[in-house]
Amino acid sequence: MKYIDKDFYKGKRVFVTGHTGFKGSWLCQILLNFGAEITGYALPAPTKPNLFELAGLAQKMHSVIGDIRDKEKLQKAFAEAKPEIVLHLAAQPLVRESYKEPAYTYETNVMGTVNLLECVRALHFREPSSVKSVVNITTDKVYKNNEWVWGYREDEPLDGFDPYSNSKSCSELVTHSYVSSFFANSEVAVSTARAGNVIGGGDFAMDRIIPDCVRAVQSAKPLIVRNPRSTRPYQHVLEPLFAYLMIAQRQYEDKSYAGWYNVGPDECDCVTTGNLADLFQRQWGAGFSWLNQAEANAPHEANFLKLDCSKLKTTFDWQPRWHIDEAVAKTVEWTKIWLASGDVAAAMNWQIKEYMEG
Ligand SMILES: NC(=O)c1ccc[n+]([C@@H]2O[C@H](COP(=O)([O-])OP(=O)(O)OC[C@H]3O[C@@H](n4cnc5c(N)ncnc54)[C@H](O)[C@@H]3O)[C@@H](O)[C@H]2O)c1
Repeated sequence: MKYIDKDFYKGKRVFVTGHTGFKGSWLCQILLNFGAEITGYALPAPTKPNLFELAGLAQKMHSVIGDIRDKEKLQKAFAEAKPEIVLHLAAQPLVRESYKEPAYTYETNVMGTVNLLECVRALHFREPSSVKSVVNITTDKVYKNNEWVWGYREDEPLDGFDPYSNSKSCSELVTHSYVSSFFANSEVAVSTARAGNVIGGGDFAMDRIIPDCVRAVQSAKPLIVRNPRSTRPYQHVLEPLFAYLMIAQRQYEDKSYAGWYNVGPDECDCVTTGNLADLFQRQWGAGFSWLNQAEANAPHEANFLKLDCSKLKTTFDWQPRWHIDEAVAKTVEWTKIWLASGDVAAAMNWQIKEYMEG
């Protein structure tokens, strides 16, 4: 893989928040394969079942179960881990949940970011050559959404509509302030990465289209799709994860790479939720169907969202690897193995290998 050096991570101390989640589990599996020394910090896995347990990750890494809002516990875990690289994924990541629990969403997503950056600041001042690279994982939803047809660029206004999106806009702003106020003249390189919706094996979250498709298969009932015309930059989960690792590596080696980056698919792979359900149906075969039933009085969600990823592409010569149909095929492959009680960790490893071999 040209833009990432897997040997770079060998023996590196990496601190991952949100390691028990969907993206965190895939990320830790990649880092384990690279030979990194990982400490994870998160609440228990948010769903039952979950990828973290299915892949047996607790036994393969140092996993600390704690709340990102608990400053003392986080500081202790961070100081013990003495990380060189920090990847921040812990968050309340669901739009609908954020309408039900706005204060909790802000506490976790905004103050969680502050607490983590305070850990970086404290360790850096104690040991200036310790933490060298931090990536804060936010989202494509950080932008003020104008419902227009072209992709958002990194310098456009950050002002998400709903509490989740807005809390991530705030997490961005917090990060920008820490960079200017504390890290500008230090060795610490800090970036944010704004990725679109991801799909892949092992996501069991509520209110996400692919987990909903799988639940429909299991219940032998058609899936009701409430927003089939919403366009989203869907990608396989390995796409942003490798982009995060690339940014973390490159800014570690050369701080001038630090910045704010969109991570998303090519234009041809920005599909509607209905297109995605059709692709799932094609890949799954018999046993899955869906119905278009727009919901009356549904909470507001953006209809149209695309990212302009020119900055990531030109800075790092990066390109997405899997088109959307391949991303769905890999998701279906993994899910069928899981439903047949197969070896899901092995399936993750061969999909990671296939992705890297491109
Ligand atoms: N899944 C997507 O499509 C997507 C798209 C863009 C951005 N993201 C971002 O990627 C990150 C990971 O998302 P995911 O899909 O893996 O979500 P997930 O719900 O599967 O995982 C969230 C993780 O955060 C942890 N967490 C939640 N609240 C916490 C708290 N108070 N203290 C400590 N840990 C806490 C959970 O335990 C879990 O480990 C999030 O920051 C999310 O906003 C996800």
